[in-house]
Amino acid sequence: MIILPPLPYPSDALAPVLSEVTLRLHHGKHHKAYVDKANALRAEANLPAAPVEQLIETVAMAPDRRLFNNLAQAWNHAFYWNCMSPRPVPPNPRLASAIGAAFAGPDGLRAAFIDEGVRHFGSGWVWLAAQDGRLILFSTHDADTVIGRNLTPLLVCDVWEHAYYLDHQNDRAAYLGLWWDRLANWDFAGRQFDAEAAGTGAWTYPHDTEAYVAPIHGTGAFEHALEEAGMLLALQPAPGSERGRRFDALLHRIAEYAPSAPPVGQAGRVSADLDRRIRAAAARRRAGRDDEDHHWSPLVGGDLRRHG
Ligand code: FE2
Repeated sequence: MIILPPLPYPSDALAPVLSEVTLRLHHGKHHKAYVDKANALRAEANLPAAPVEQLIETVAMAPDRRLFNNLAQAWNHAFYWNCMSPRPVPPNPRLASAIGAAFAGPDGLRAAFIDEGVRHFGSGWVWLAAQDGRLILFSTHDADTVIGRNLTPLLVCDVWEHAYYLDHQNDRAAYLGLWWDRLANWDFAGRQFDAEAAGTGAWTYPHDTEAYVAPIHGTGAFEHALEEAGMLLALQPAPGSERGRRFDALLHRIAEYAPSAPPVGQAGRVSADLDRRIRAAAARRRAGRDDEDHHWSPLVGGDLRRHG
């Protein structure tokens, strides 16, 4: 399950550059719609739950662009919220030095960033990124994103009209100028720049940690998955609830692994009966025969037996 990350500040915190109405619509309607569609299309494609970055790379070349577009828009927007701050600070010294080297100082970067955004035809995103310690500036069209491009984004500005039209009408240059001067989050950009140098720790899309289940690669992990599925089953999780999503993710992984797995049976921590019933549910799920809302209902009442 891909989540809609909350805004990192109150929805009125960026006014007057971006009004509360704009932020509520942009986050609560536009961003949410991308997240909801991405979740629906991922389920339709029968792709297992995975980090958003991994899903984007998986479908990047798919002829049907719908899932890529919605995943990429979900990612771009979540990143964009972090690129703004109600209380911006100047770039850290190492980033300021890189800006000097690449753009002859902050004024040069400001002019180049705004120019890139103003000249960008149609909808898209203006990016400041780092690659091998050097800064680069570019824009992407529509939903296109930076995942898989071997660079680390530092800042992005949304130049889709829905980002600024209520506050600045068609004056994209005014939006970009005010965005740069009053909202650009150099603290975040500096941390991204440092992460690029360190090769780790760059921002990633927040996980639905409760629901994410790693692929199963061995009998021990398989047994754990069956055990947890059994415990959740006994709690009768409601579909769509946190527990329900976790159970759903476990069934996905069990379905992936179960065809080659030997029975756990009495030797394991779950009973043979529960093992059989969970595998049957996973198999039905794999075959696409289950009603999404009721796919575990035949299992309710399952038991769990602990050994030793
Ligand atoms: Fe947007």
